[in-house]
Amino acid sequence: MNNYEAIFKKSIQEPELFWDESAQAISWFKKYDRVLDDSNPPFYRWFVGGQLNICYNALDRHIEAGRGEQTALIWDSPVTNQIKKYSYRELTEYVAKFAAVLKSFGVKKGDTVVIYMSMVPEAVVAMLACARIGAIHSVVFGGFAANELAVRIDDAKPKLIIATSCGIEVKRIIDYKSILDKALEMAVYKPEACIIFQRPQSIVQLKQGFEYDWNELMNNAQPVDCVSVESTHPLYILYTSGTTGKPKGVVRDSGGYAVALRWSMENIYDIKPGDVFWAASDVGWVVGHSYIVYAPLITGCTTIVYEGKSVGTPDPGAFWRVISQHRVKALFTAPTAFRAIKREDPNGEYLKKYNISDFKYLFLAGERLDPDTYYWASNLLNRPVIDHWWQTETGWPITANCMGIEQFPIKAGSSTKPVPGYSVHVVDANGNILAPEQEGLIVIKLPLPPGTLPTLWNAENRYLEAYIKVIPGYYFTADGGYIDRDGYVFIMGRVDDVINVAGHRLSTGAMEEVISKHPDVAECAVFGIEDSFKGQLPLGLIVLKAGVNRDPNEIKQEIAQMVRNQIGPIACYRDTIIVERLPKTRSGKILRGILRKIADGQSYTMPATIDDPAILIEIEEKLRSLGFGKKV
Ligand code: COA
Ligand code: AMP
Repeated sequence: MNNYEAIFKKSIQEPELFWDESAQAISWFKKYDRVLDDSNPPFYRWFVGGQLNICYNALDRHIEAGRGEQTALIWDSPVTNQIKKYSYRELTEYVAKFAAVLKSFGVKKGDTVVIYMSMVPEAVVAMLACARIGAIHSVVFGGFAANELAVRIDDAKPKLIIATSCGIEVKRIIDYKSILDKALEMAVYKPEACIIFQRPQSIVQLKQGFEYDWNELMNNAQPVDCVSVESTHPLYILYTSGTTGKPKGVVRDSGGYAVALRWSMENIYDIKPGDVFWAASDVGWVVGHSYIVYAPLITGCTTIVYEGKSVGTPDPGAFWRVISQHRVKALFTAPTAFRAIKREDPNGEYLKKYNISDFKYLFLAGERLDPDTYYWASNLLNRPVIDHWWQTETGWPITANCMGIEQFPIKAGSSTKPVPGYSVHVVDANGNILAPEQEGLIVIKLPLPPGTLPTLWNAENRYLEAYIKVIPGYYFTADGGYIDRDGYVFIMGRVDDVINVAGHRLSTGAMEEVISKHPDVAECAVFGIEDSFKGQLPLGLIVLKAGVNRDPNEIKQEIAQMVRNQIGPIACYRDTIIVERLPKTRSGKILRGILRKIADGQSYTMPATIDDPAILIEIEEKLRSLGFGKKV
């Protein structure tokens, strides 16, 4: 049995030695000169001087090692009734040919490519083909509206955009091509061309000379080899919600990421080459990047690309069917997906139909795992249910119960202990370290381990302001919580304006920007309220302009539609409450934290700086009369 304490201590006290050993599992074209370059803090660089290609690590080297015929990827699509398998050899050939297609458009090392695709194997192929030639991909999640796609296009400035003609949401066809067209109209920046993967469910017209058919391009493509890139070369940009309408472009390097992901598979997930690993997420999210695509393939596992949901495709036994049919060893998903199963099949009747004897672990992340869901899943499955905490920024888990190292007793509500490499602390607003059990801001001592964000794309200052300068010497996670006397970390929620709806990270600031454009709205505040199914839901408070006397329900509907059209259906924005004024401090700052507490029925202290205490009481009564929160 490994010893967590010893491994953790080594990772913090001798990080260079620790990560040098871990880097042996990666194939380097040229070995790095230094493990950690800390000469220019707070900009730390891992494996400097090293050269590699992450696509080579994920594909080609497994063929060379005799795994060519092993299944690399299983596409399981209950929404189209299809299952398709690709061996490492087949996937490598597909990727190498598509890389040739990219090259034929002049895409080269350092160019950016936006990928806007539904959950088809081609999404993974497009990502890996970019990596193969050193292009930087930026995948945009399909549930975002045209405006969000346009913002990302303008920031990433892609040479090419690769899209599917459509996505399929259970039984509905989502017209991705129209969303792309609208986004291109909105964006100031124009890419040189678009490659469209035509799905049979929606064959679209292509604009000659600008839009090209994926399959036609593939007809004559000849496979190309991997290029060698520096360890610090950006592999991708992944936009994530910040506190404003402008998303943050998290940059991921190549070498550090490869090393960290490979290490995480054996040590956190207890997954070895040849195992079947399933992350039921979407390639548009960080979980998809790290644990559908890169980590399982770098490790030589079989990964599953699942185009379906936990319920409704066709029933709450969907996950058990996939686990049983493909002999999945570990599943990683968001707690919401399990709350959906629990809601439709509380007694686990559907599980009885399947043999899931190969299944060893359930890993959950992306939002708080409420104890009810934890106990339900744990009792039903009779296997470890592991809550682990991480962020788009870190790219891999910060705290976890590391199944490949040492299994600790689980405490419901806690994501267990810091993962080796992460020195996690709880501090107050002045950076003083707090005693065990005391709640505060969760920070990680710099330098962060490999694989974590080195900066934000085109926004170094924002990187410094948002993460580095808040608490000097530490990375600021923007999550609050505490560490108990046994060293278990409890994440209590964001301390900024980011909310988590059904495991999807969203910005209330972005929603406020949309709502404030409504002609009748003078002011607004959006905050997250607790929801027993989706974890959190957004709720908007609006103040109408003087003299507006239209039907309030009409205004509310228009606002919900605006958020849906401009941010996307995944925002799940439905509820708006009209109030006379917003609660503010005397300096004009909206008291969002208190609004959240009122909505969730938690106790709060009336702040001394509030300009008008009566307004809080009025809002509390209104929220209560509408069924949000409870009197405290
Ligand atoms: N493309 C287009 N639309 C999408 C979409 C996509 N890729 N994903 C979601 N949407 C739409 C949905 O169809 C829905 O539209 P509607 O309002 O017209 O019904 C809306 O966005 C909200 O979606 P969601 O909140 O996901 O609700 P749902 O009922 O469709 O699914 C769950 C519920 C629990 C099954 C689903 O939210 C889930 O699996 N969540 C886990 C998320 C996850 O994997 N997170 C990553 C971290 S692990
Ligand atoms: P994302 O960047 O989309 O992965 O979202 C990251 C945020 O999700 C974190 O900052 C947390 O607020 C939340 N989160 C992720 N995992 C957990 C977890 N296990 N417990 C509580 N919150 C989590």
